[in-house]
Amino acid sequence: MSHHSTARALLSGVAAFRNVTVQQMRLICNKKCINCKVTRPLSLAANAQQQYQVKERKERKELPVPSVPISSAQVSRDSVTVKFGDGRESPMPYVWLRDNCRCPDCYSSEALGRKCLLSDLDVEIQAMDIQSNDESLNIEWSDGHRSEYPAEWLHARAFTPEARALRRDVYALPKEPWGANHKLLEFDYESMRKDDKVLLEWLLTMETQGSAMLKNVPDKDVAGPEMIEHIAFVKQCHYGPHSPVINRPNTNNVAFTNAKLGMHNDLPQYEHMAGIIFIHCVKQHVGTGGESVIADGLFGAELLRKEHPEAFKILTSTDSYFWDKGHANYSWEMEEFYKISKFPVITLNSSKEVIRIAVNNAIRDSYLDLPSSKVKKFYESLKVFNDILYSNSSTFKMDSGDLMTLDNVRCLHGREGYEAFSDRHIESSYLDWDEARCRRRRIQEKLGLLRTV
Ligand code: OGA
Ligand code: ZN
Ligand code: ZN
Repeated sequence: MSHHSTARALLSGVAAFRNVTVQQMRLICNKKCINCKVTRPLSLAANAQQQYQVKERKERKELPVPSVPISSAQVSRDSVTVKFGDGRESPMPYVWLRDNCRCPDCYSSEALGRKCLLSDLDVEIQAMDIQSNDESLNIEWSDGHRSEYPAEWLHARAFTPEARALRRDVYALPKEPWGANHKLLEFDYESMRKDDKVLLEWLLTMETQGSAMLKNVPDKDVAGPEMIEHIAFVKQCHYGPHSPVINRPNTNNVAFTNAKLGMHNDLPQYEHMAGIIFIHCVKQHVGTGGESVIADGLFGAELLRKEHPEAFKILTSTDSYFWDKGHANYSWEMEEFYKISKFPVITLNSSKEVIRIAVNNAIRDSYLDLPSSKVKKFYESLKVFNDILYSNSSTFKMDSGDLMTLDNVRCLHGREGYEAFSDRHIESSYLDWDEARCRRRRIQEKLGLLRTV
């Protein structure tokens, strides 16, 4: 597909948006004359109301959950310890129970959100009376309010390691790090679009392994974005909804040349880095060159933590700037951009787990917000990490019609340089993790694989 047709494909997205806007207009004419051209757009609020009425609420319907009866409730100073029929037992703190009252004054069962305000919550709240039966726990509070909690609702929210671990998996699946010679799991492009079970397998693979290969991808520039639109929606950046990775004249990014690219994460110049990268090989270079190299940054970071604790400390505690300044090469790119982000090469969460890797030699800024005495150690640490990544990498050559998907805040990718006048053509596009996990949960619910209470 030419770049003109790429632009056309992008414009069809705009047209689709325009259609929605038109549909949202309603003919309003008091005289009820035929072919009346009097139109008036609905207000945003009225529009929302109309859509609300049309939309069936059945998506919200929760799956039946096998009920686990309450067998006893033991009162203490700040909590009530509830025992369930399956042996699960947990103190339920009063402040938490009061905060999570299910009554219509405190909670909207339609919007699935808390209506009561934190400013009205008394952390010293006491239970005046507690009654329990198989199906529920009933409390009369010191503020006069009454609450009822279904047994299965409490059971799912028990403060036990097992119950908490279950919710953690609904949030995000545990990652499985991998080292050298990793074999990407393969998925058929059309099957993924047609069969939610296959799509779910891909989503689970991406969460656990952070990598997969789609095969038999249609020969068009927008095959990646079309798959992303099937899953949720494209994560845009200043290069537009997808980028032709070719040897561009007057290029605005080192990636859009024939040069070798060291292993990197895409778009660390964004504070919110794109979650999943889709690297579609529309046409591979014939002959030597254009090979891909990938590594699991999570595996590398854990090795670094174990074997080079000082370098690990430096890379997790030193902020690095990433930047990207330039002009559009194509009409769908932002005309002028100037991005700067700032975070460590390895980001940890509050449990000291690795949650983001940001390595990109091309766009790592030459500005360093560091005293000069710390600069050499910083570079030493970068190089140690880079060496670990390369020692545990996998090299292969994608075929035309392959589309590699990688967790872009975890796995790194690079490519060998290739001949300047090659017709090699890669297309890259992105999907955010929030949307991917959202789709995973919804398919799991639909297939009866996820119990939500
Ligand atoms: C990129 C990139 C990979 C390739 O454009 O950021 O990594 O194989 N491309 O060209
Ligand atoms: Zn209430
Ligand atoms: Zn890249």
